Amino acid sequence: MIKPDKSKQDSKKIQIRDMFNDISSRYDQINKMMTLNMDKNWRKIVYNLTIEDKPKKIIDIASGTGDIALCFANDNVEVVGIDNASMMLDLANEKSMKIPNVKFQLEDAENMSFENNTFDAATVGFGVRNFEDLNQGLREIKRVLKPGKKLIILETAVPSFLIVRFGYFLYTKLIIPVLGKMIAKNQQAYQYLSTSAEHFPHGIEFQIILEKLGFKDIKIKYLSLGIVNIYTAIKPK
Ligand SMILES: C[S@@+](CC[C@H](N)C(=O)[O-])C[C@H]1O[C@@H](n2cnc3c(N)ncnc32)[C@H](O)[C@@H]1O
Repeated sequence: MIKPDKSKQDSKKIQIRDMFNDISSRYDQINKMMTLNMDKNWRKIVYNLTIEDKPKKIIDIASGTGDIALCFANDNVEVVGIDNASMMLDLANEKSMKIPNVKFQLEDAENMSFENNTFDAATVGFGVRNFEDLNQGLREIKRVLKPGKKLIILETAVPSFLIVRFGYFLYTKLIIPVLGKMIAKNQQAYQYLSTSAEHFPHGIEFQIILEKLGFKDIKIKYLSLGIVNIYTAIKPK
């Protein structure tokens, strides 16, 4: 298991929560910078894939500062964004103050308080790779989704084209940790984010994990030369 600080005894969950609390005030700014503003388009695709099914109640898991949840601000839909890092949610709450249909709640994605079959759609942006127990987190998402409804996951991937891959490693291993140190004042956090992206299952490997957990009709969209993927999967009826 990849944790931000291997030398510490704390669980991955505690370390991840503390890490996101620590970088929360700079998170949005660094996100934009590191993704060269492409994150906005990726979230828009998640939005389109979600709203096309006309959901009434959406859960955005590992919602962080709320940028996916807030995409639904002008829709006739109830959105609950959940995260276990309270300082990320403080920022999400600030952004959603005048948006009545989007609310945020402190929850552990791997052990949520919602009833079975509650939501018409579930979104997760750059969250699943931070779960302590990936299978448990995905099982929980399946539990709270209504049968026949869609899970949409946006997650990092490693490009397969050799030249792109070379550029990708150069960027994630050298530039991102330096930016993390300079701007977020937390080099270790951004080193973790790069290393975890490198080792996290992606593409067909991630599809197999979803299939084994019982999701159906899994589709993958490879975006921005393969540096991120969007997976959609249906909870069977
Ligand atoms: C990289 S941020 C993504 C935030 C947002 N979804 C976005 O697209 O910008 C990952 C988020 O996952 C949250 N997270 C990680 N493990 C979690 C868990 N077990 N339960 C709830 N949130 C979790 C972190 O606190 C963090 O806010």
